This record gives sequence, C-alpha cells and structure tokens, in this order.
Amino acid sequence: MGKIFVTGATGTNGKALVKKLTERKIDFVVGSRNVEKAKEVFGKEVQIRTFDFSDASTFENSLKGIDKVFLLGPPLQLKVDELIIPFLDFIKKQGINRIVYFSALASDKMGSQLDFHTKIEQKLKNENYDYTILQPSFFSQNFKNYEFENINERNIVFMPAGEGKVGFVDVEDIATVAVETLISDEHSKKVYRLTGPELLSYFDAAAIISEVLSKEIHYPNPSPEIFKQVLETSGAPTFVGDYLTDVYQIIAKSEVNLLTDDVFLVTGKKPTTLKEVLERDFKN
Ligand SMILES: NC(=O)c1ccc[n+]([C@@H]2O[C@H](COP(=O)([O-])OP(=O)(O)OC[C@H]3O[C@@H](n4cnc5c(N)ncnc54)[C@H](OP(=O)(O)O)[C@@H]3O)[C@@H](O)[C@H]2O)c1
Repeated sequence: MGKIFVTGATGTNGKALVKKLTERKIDFVVGSRNVEKAKEVFGKEVQIRTFDFSDASTFENSLKGIDKVFLLGPPLQLKVDELIIPFLDFIKKQGINRIVYFSALASDKMGSQLDFHTKIEQKLKNENYDYTILQPSFFSQNFKNYEFENINERNIVFMPAGEGKVGFVDVEDIATVAVETLISDEHSKKVYRLTGPELLSYFDAAAIISEVLSKEIHYPNPSPEIFKQVLETSGAPTFVGDYLTDVYQIIAKSEVNLLTDDVFLVTGKKPTTLKEVLERDFKN
C-alpha cells in the first residue's frame, strides 16, 4: 500500500485524518513546522517530521521512504500556489507521483486573488501527477472554529454570504473520503466535490444553532462593506476582510448551491447533517 506523508496534519482536517489513519493502522508520517507542538497534539504514537512548505531544506527528510502525499495548504493566506509548488516539484523529482490534494468547491469562482487552488489543480493535471482532488464545500466545523465568539458572546453568525445556500460538509466525512482515496488505487485522476446532505442558507444555519443551543442566534446578513468595516475595526488586517468576502461571495452568488453524492460514493456512508455536527461541537 505504501507509506503516506500527511501535510496540514495539526489542523482541523489533518487531525481528523490522522485519527482515522491511526485507527485503521495505515502506515503514515506527518509533517509540521513545530514538532514539539505536534507531539502535544498526537502523543508518541504518530511519527512526526519537521516540514515547512517555505523551507526547502525540510523536504528531503520529510519524504524519506514515502510513496504518496496528502497535500493541504494553509487557509487565510494569499498565493498558496507559490508556497506549495516548490514542494510539488520536489515530490516529482523524488519519483513520487501519487498526490491527494485538498482543494475547495468552486474555487475557480473565487476571483483572481484566490485562484491558488485552481492553479495547483491545473499543475497536477498538466504535469501528469497521479492525483485525486478533493473539493469540499464549506465545513460544518467553521461555526465552532470561526464563529464561536460571535455565537457565544453576540448571539450572531457574521459573514457576507447573502441569502445563498451551501451544503455544509462534516470534516469527519471529508477525512473518511481522504482515507479511502489514499489507500485504494480506484481514485486516480478523480475529482470529488464533497458536500453535506442539505442545502442551507445562513438564516437556516442560525435557526439550527438556535435549536441546538436553546437560545436565539441571528444572521444579520451584512453587506461586504459592513463586514469588512467590522473586521477592520476589530483589528484584522485589510487582506483578511477582502479574502473572506471573496470566499463568502461565492455563496451569495449561488456558486456552491449544489449537493453531490460523492461522500456516499466513496465511503458508502451518508453525509452527516449540520445539526449533528453542531450537537457534537457545541454540546461536548
Ligand atoms: N474552511 C472551509 O470551509 C474550507 C472549505 C473548503 C476548503 N478549504 C481549504 O481547507 C484548507 C485549510 O484546511 P484546515 O482548515 O484543516 O487548515 P487549518 O486547520 O488552518 O490547518 C492548517 C495546517 O497547515 C499547516 N501549515 C501552515 N503553514 C504551513 C507551512 N508553511 N508549511 C507546512 N505546513 C503549514 C499547519 O501545520 P503546522 O502549524 O503544524 O506546521 C496546519 O496543520 C485550505 O486550503 C482551504 O482553502 C476550507
């Protein structure tokens, strides 16, 4: 089956993937910029190597004995293609061709400052990598990861997503798909669009959170201008407001208004609902 190198392992999706790879006794190692911190996350069971996309001196040791790579780039950063491509080139030079790339649904609709997923996907296709591309929709876990303070302290969820709908997907489901694509040869040259089971607006999501928490949560549906102003007033760098506005505008413009069967097709399991994830995230 071969040994897997997992990038982005200490993050939201990486941790879910590492847990499943460990449970299934699959041979893998993870890369992290901070091995000591990663040890606190994973304990002694997981092999950890120093790895930084921006430091080519970490590449060779990271890939020793590796047959395939799970490739996930950091969020909230521009020009991720420039960050990742030197590593992709190095992988190829080492004779490794199998890549499972973590992209995003409708990333080609996100505008030129966020075209990095599209550029990386094109490179994988044009240069004949043995790729599988995962294109998840918006994560159900975003509410816990990014809206926790708004929900707990202000009783709102706050994003410029208009009235658009989205098929929020559970990170655990994405990780189950990722494991299958990493351990089987069946998924070569496939692109999977990963969504949850239901299309919801942020008005719907706020209503579900209200039900789960038994308190009223509102979605004020801010304009992009108000959203950027609020972020800037709270001290966020200007590019963060621009980046998040571009991301949420694909919802407002109905570019991710779609559901697929891909989670079920790959895993044989029905995707988890937003309510189930929120109950897990907010009640434990
Ligand atoms: N949020 C959404 O709804 C959504 C939807 C679809 C797709 N996406 C995509 O999902 C990805 C983010 O996934 P996530 O939320 O799981 O990430 P995350 O939790 O923010 O974790 C980011 C990971 O990147 C690693 N990292 C950061 N800089 C690095 C560098 N220079 N070299 C090597 N590793 C580095 C970090 O590892 P260390 O700190 O250990 O080095 C960390 O494990 C992005 O590509 C985003 O476009 C997001």
